[in-house]
Amino acid sequence: MLTQKDLIHLLETDNSSELHELFCEADRIRHETVGDGVHLRAIVEFSNSCERNCLYCGLRRKNRRLTRYSLSEDQILKLAEEISQLGIKTIVLQSGEDRFIRAEHLAKVIQKIKLKYNLAITLSVGEHPERDYRLWFDSGADRYLLKHETSDPVLYKRLHPDLTYENRLRCLEILKKIGYQVGSGVMVGLPGQTLESLAEDILLFRKFEIDMMGISPFVPNPQTPAPKLFQKFPFPFNAEKLTYKMIALTRIVTCDTMIPTTTALATVNGKTGRIQGLRCGANVIMPDATPQPYKSYYEIYPAKAGLEKPFSRQIQEIRQLVASLGRKISTDFGHRRQTEARRFG
Ligand code: 5AD
Ligand code: SF4
Repeated sequence: MLTQKDLIHLLETDNSSELHELFCEADRIRHETVGDGVHLRAIVEFSNSCERNCLYCGLRRKNRRLTRYSLSEDQILKLAEEISQLGIKTIVLQSGEDRFIRAEHLAKVIQKIKLKYNLAITLSVGEHPERDYRLWFDSGADRYLLKHETSDPVLYKRLHPDLTYENRLRCLEILKKIGYQVGSGVMVGLPGQTLESLAEDILLFRKFEIDMMGISPFVPNPQTPAPKLFQKFPFPFNAEKLTYKMIALTRIVTCDTMIPTTTALATVNGKTGRIQGLRCGANVIMPDATPQPYKSYYEIYPAKAGLEKPFSRQIQEIRQLVASLGRKISTDFGHRRQTEARRFG
């Protein structure tokens, strides 16, 4: 079993044969444990309102330059229909931590999507009271994404003036207890982030038995305060390269989990970011089904990949990309195996 020391060494190394071995091993474990299927999860960014002020994110409340929006129930249901007609089995309902989200309203949308389109539903709407998490689960939501962002408590505090690391972990535990398949994740390349803390992130995925993990390079957004922090807290590594290593090591340590090749990777490397992620352990792609102009208002960071392309076109390109790797788009719900047995077996 890889120790924290091994993980740090592999995150640090530039030795090409060591790296080749690392990526091959991750790809082999991915093939053996979760197979060659690539799962598509279609994201619907239904509101960009957020009352938090995370220092890195364009949706932060203090960013007054952003046009705010909320999609209506009808708009969301139409998108769910389009997603299911394209043969995709998961919808991801994503928003900022929107104080206008009424738990009952979202619960109704979840019920209708389940009833009409029989999609697996992932929620990604931030920190909420346990009773809301329960209501949404009982309404039919299957999965919940809540990234812990970094396991370094000091860095977490620096970046999140109105959140606490303890509460984030508590929410993950509650979600797990309720029965969700739980997703967490991190950004790689944050100001002052260390290889030690990135190794710790991987061990946390295992310790918390996280089912899916989104690992993204940090993309500095000039409309936020985070880029300035690099002057005081440098990050002396290449975030893109380190993200591939993080994906590979996470696959090796957690084996049968769901790991996306993230939009942020496709943003920092439009040519090969996505494919490289799939080659070193990832088995999920999350295309963006949000229509324009809303998609361009969901500006977490600038030039988010896929912004210019309509959804059906993105899917066409993803099909080609996956086929070029000799892999196939999965046609099942894409639950992590052991949890599928728990809820549907
Ligand atoms: N770069 C990369 N990812 C970001 N996120 C927010 N801002 C950035 C950024 N500048 C991610 C965080 C958060 C989600 C809303 O988007 O991981 O969980
Ligand atoms: Fe809001 Fe999430 Fe962005 Fe923080 S990361 S500002 S909670 S949308």
